[in-house]
Amino acid sequence: MKGRIAVAAGDGIGPEVMREARAVLDAIAARFGHSFEYVDIDAGGAALDKYGIPLPAEALETARACDALLLSAVGGPRWDTLPGRLRPEQALLGLRAGLGAYANLRPARLMPPLRAACPLKDEVLCASNPQGTPAFDILFVRELTGGIYFGERGREGNRAFDTESYTWDEIERILRVGFEAAKARSKKVTVVDKANILESSRLWREAAEAVAKDFPDINLDFLYVDNAAMQLVRAPGRFDVVVTSNLFGDILSDEAAALTGSIGMLPSASLGAGAGMYEPVHGSAPDIAGQDAANPLGMILSAAMLLRHSFHLEREARAVEDAAAAVLEAGFRTPDLCRGAPGERPVGTRAMGAAVREAL
Ligand code: IPM
Ligand code: MG
Repeated sequence: MKGRIAVAAGDGIGPEVMREARAVLDAIAARFGHSFEYVDIDAGGAALDKYGIPLPAEALETARACDALLLSAVGGPRWDTLPGRLRPEQALLGLRAGLGAYANLRPARLMPPLRAACPLKDEVLCASNPQGTPAFDILFVRELTGGIYFGERGREGNRAFDTESYTWDEIERILRVGFEAAKARSKKVTVVDKANILESSRLWREAAEAVAKDFPDINLDFLYVDNAAMQLVRAPGRFDVVVTSNLFGDILSDEAAALTGSIGMLPSASLGAGAGMYEPVHGSAPDIAGQDAANPLGMILSAAMLLRHSFHLEREARAVEDAAAAVLEAGFRTPDLCRGAPGERPVGTRAMGAAVREAL
């Protein structure tokens, strides 16, 4: 197949991890007989430096015209003092909203070779896992184009406000993504909210009860977000699919990332009406930029999600995921994953990317 991919290499470690992900896609193209064309777009700090705005209209247009968007990470201290609407993070929100990418899938799975990098004790991991092994496999389905990220905000005198607001339709469509995903997994959906306080959360619960009627095989339960944060470190194996709002999903997916060993491991796919958008969960990590120290696996695994969800190339996606698992199995570790365990082979960003291509 021929695919056109918009690429936002971003800021900080962004260009370094993007280089590895593109090289992996090229290796996939060569091996499976596809051709991928890349179209670079400027977003975030890179766009601010060139045009004085975080997301030029043509960048969004280009992303819309492509089959998918691969984005690394944006932001950095240089742009931290800009007013809210000019912050590099606005590029992310503009792309998510502009592409209608409302469903953010963030798989968080403990890969066996990274057991030593997970801070939880064996007994904690085993007790909650139906299989009784030290493992967990959670899919976060985070609502991405609504809620407090996009609600009314402002200042009035010495007061500042942000608004959490959801319509039934926005809630229903993200819930359906979660229920559908659960069908192919362990058939359990946990809706995380704060329904003891927030009216918007009470609407989420009503919508969830209604949608659940269409999925009689799926087990539905509810957790308040404070409890969910605790259960993640007490009983991560109890979760299968977690469906939640934009803000709660942002927070809980970072917590889950730490349990997988490093936030550098986690990929994401943001799906909706138009071109899908694929980005690692981690940020631009300006403190380690340019040092060949970033973990490219979250970015590479995001490219795998692109192959699966935008191009329907399941075999190719699996090949990338298997290659990533194989290099971890072989002991390769970027600095974020090193725990001084026997068999670890410390490597930098380039060597990790090369190892994945070699495994392919
Ligand atoms: C994420 C990030 C972004 C978010 C930031 C950079 C705007 O933390 O993708 O999780 O909050 O959505
Ligand atoms: Mg986040």
